[in-house]
Amino acid sequence: MSVIKVENLTKLFGNLTAVDNISFEVAEGTIFGFLGPNGAGKTTTINILCTLLAPTSGRVSIAGYDCLKNPSEVRHAIGIVFQDTTLDKDLTAYENLMFHAYLYDVKKSEIKKRINDALHFVGLHERKNDLVKIFSGGMKRRLEVARGLIHRPKVLFLDEPTLGLDPQSRANLWEFIVELPKKHNVTIFMTTHYMEEAEVCNNIAIIDKGKIIAAGTPEELKKSLGGDVIYIRTADNAKAKIEIEKLFNINVSEKDNELFLTTLKGDACIPELIKAVGEKVLSVRLQRPTLNDVFLKMTGKQIRDQNGSSEDTIREAVRAYRRRH
Ligand SMILES: Nc1ncnc2c1ncn2[C@@H]1O[C@H](COP(=O)(O)OP(=O)(O)OP(=O)(O)O)[C@@H](O)[C@H]1O
Ligand SMILES: [Mg+2]
Repeated sequence: MSVIKVENLTKLFGNLTAVDNISFEVAEGTIFGFLGPNGAGKTTTINILCTLLAPTSGRVSIAGYDCLKNPSEVRHAIGIVFQDTTLDKDLTAYENLMFHAYLYDVKKSEIKKRINDALHFVGLHERKNDLVKIFSGGMKRRLEVARGLIHRPKVLFLDEPTLGLDPQSRANLWEFIVELPKKHNVTIFMTTHYMEEAEVCNNIAIIDKGKIIAAGTPEELKKSLGGDVIYIRTADNAKAKIEIEKLFNINVSEKDNELFLTTLKGDACIPELIKAVGEKVLSVRLQRPTLNDVFLKMTGKQIRDQNGSSEDTIREAVRAYRRRH
């Protein structure tokens, strides 16, 4: 069942078309990634979905409520972690959450338990009486996620939740985010500039200049590039090329003394490939397309700030999560 429905949404700012006739749906209990370069229209879309901005045209509904006709119901159904932090730095962590609970009319008898549960969930319970102004960037982000959950929303919007955080804090925050759909029965709508983070999404839409230019699961998007590339070096490339082309019925190319071919299941092909070429094989390597390759192909741009070491840390966190489920 779809918890978010967007139909032909457009937003103009004067002459500028920030969001250009986009449509998509997000299934309940999933993580949806909305990716795009700077100025693509991500925050504008989120602001419309969160009822902070009126669309120029189109229809948007959340949890069955129309964002224009029933904004109050929509607001109760969502939680938001904004791109820029919005905590009150002169209040403690606990007081920030308390303030939020009052704003959302959470039942008095439930407030204490909900706040304590949320603080435990993001690992900040021991720091609950500290002023937010002495929190690190990662702690502030975790507190914002906790705050977004206090009124038990159906959808949680995370706009660049990890931007500016060090690799350790990013990995740490991800451990909480990936648990949210199951533990808190919430659907996640997130934007990020870190492509390796987008790997955890069930579905992704790539937006560029206001338009959705690709959508699907991370696997589908990567497959759309044509599959894995196998590189193979042999003692006799000319002969090996003929043998491989005959066996797999595909074109094999050569670059820098190395043969290469594109195939859907690269790892499964390698044993047959080696058998075909025999002892003439000198080396074989497999290159899997990444979401970064997808993004580059679709938008012609690198998504900003790729950082090798942080990618490794996030990948490890994602792998650990997958092992657990
Ligand atoms: N209130 C506004 N008035 C005029 N133009 C705006 C307004 N808000 C956004 N824009 C413009 O709309 C376009 C989309 O901006 P938006 O903030 O949605 O991009 P974004 O995808 O979130 O980018 P980033 O990755 O940098 O956060 C940009 O060209 C921006 O300058
Ligand atoms: Mg933005």
